Amino acid sequence: MEFKRNILVTGGAGFIGSHVVRLFVNKYPDYRIVNLDKLTYAGNLANLKDIENAPNYVFVKADICDFETVCQVFKDYAIDGVIHLAAESHVDRSIKDPFTFAKTNVIGTLSLLQAARLAWDGQWEGKRFYHISTDEVYGALKMDGSFFTETTRYQPHSPYSAAKASSDHFVRAFHDTYGLPTVVTNCSNNYGPYQFPEKLIPLFINNIRHRKPLPVYGKGENIRDWLYVVDHARAIDLIFHEGKDGETYNIGGFNEWKNIDLVKVLIRTTDRLLGRAEGEDLDLITFVTDRAGHDLRYAIDSTKLKTELGWEPSLQFEEGIEKTVRWYLEHQDWMDNVTSGDYQRYYEDMYKNR
Ligand code: NAD
Ligand code: DAU
Repeated sequence: MEFKRNILVTGGAGFIGSHVVRLFVNKYPDYRIVNLDKLTYAGNLANLKDIENAPNYVFVKADICDFETVCQVFKDYAIDGVIHLAAESHVDRSIKDPFTFAKTNVIGTLSLLQAARLAWDGQWEGKRFYHISTDEVYGALKMDGSFFTETTRYQPHSPYSAAKASSDHFVRAFHDTYGLPTVVTNCSNNYGPYQFPEKLIPLFINNIRHRKPLPVYGKGENIRDWLYVVDHARAIDLIFHEGKDGETYNIGGFNEWKNIDLVKVLIRTTDRLLGRAEGEDLDLITFVTDRAGHDLRYAIDSTKLKTELGWEPSLQFEEGIEKTVRWYLEHQDWMDNVTSGDYQRYYEDMYKNR
């Protein structure tokens, strides 16, 4: 079958990537979606079970740092668009192991940029390299009602955000130097189904269920700006198709929560959905040593995206949290598979003999 477009999604077995792959595979049957993922601890093909046999979906197990293989994938599948999500994404891990973050997030991004440049060779018409980044590159805000805009100075604090910032600079450098048709977006904290349970929301829902302590860093006063992951995927779809070359768009839902208040909402919602007395698990909250270099506050101003492309989040936070808690409670098998490590065998069972 001849496809209208051939899109390489990197990191499609991860949290956000799996939502992007699902959206594109279902919405665009005339596009071929090539999901390239190394399947690190964060990659889980069970996240894509519902679409793994779709005729317009291909999975390639590879490392974005492996330049030769990436070049071959561009050739084999006539790639004309890239949506680049593959990254090491957890701040706490980056504090322990910064090298892996520099390698994947910086060198991996450079490898993809160079492969795209060589494959497209100046024929930029109809091509797009879309790099998914984070609001953490902007550093931390004070508790003063200010926002990150697209022109806020980069001031990353963690090895994770420093590596993401560096990758953003490389993407812009390839646009300015070679004319590569790039677009960059910087998004706030995502939440929703299929998030690896090392991140606050799935970790805490699972701990509440099992009545395990909830390790709140510092005094729980840090603020994050939360967006439902499906709304991020919708924004990515819109920007991939309608964003302007060379531009940056901030993505966020104007939805700031102090960690401790968010944790209390999680406890009340989880208790209620488990048929416990609402708030009965509040005593699981345990204040622990703060994260090193812990950014105080993030808040995204996504006015540009709304004004220029008409994007708005579709879900209110209360609705999104309810859906999310319900999803994790109803998918205990998914959670058990991840926490036991069984998910890492999915690839062997599913793909080895294809
Ligand atoms: P994730 O950790 O859940 O998934 C990352 C995926 O990348 C995994 O499937 C993993 O196997 C794959 N991967 C890692 N290293 C690889 C390599 N060397 N080669 C190929 N694949 C590799 O991450 P996520 O939370 O879904 O984030 C996806 C992207 O969105 C990242 O670039 C992240 O910086 C960005 N982002 C995340 C958030 C958030 O709140 N989670 C917010 C804004 C931006
Ligand atoms: O802002 C976007 C970023 O959001 C993404 O770029 C990152 O990939 C993503 O991991 C996320 O980073 P955070 O560090 O904000 O997410 P995390 O879920 O790790 O932590 C959310 C907040 O909760 C943060 O202030 C630290 C705190 N926290 C986290 C954990 C895991 C705790 O208090 N206790 C915990 O156990």
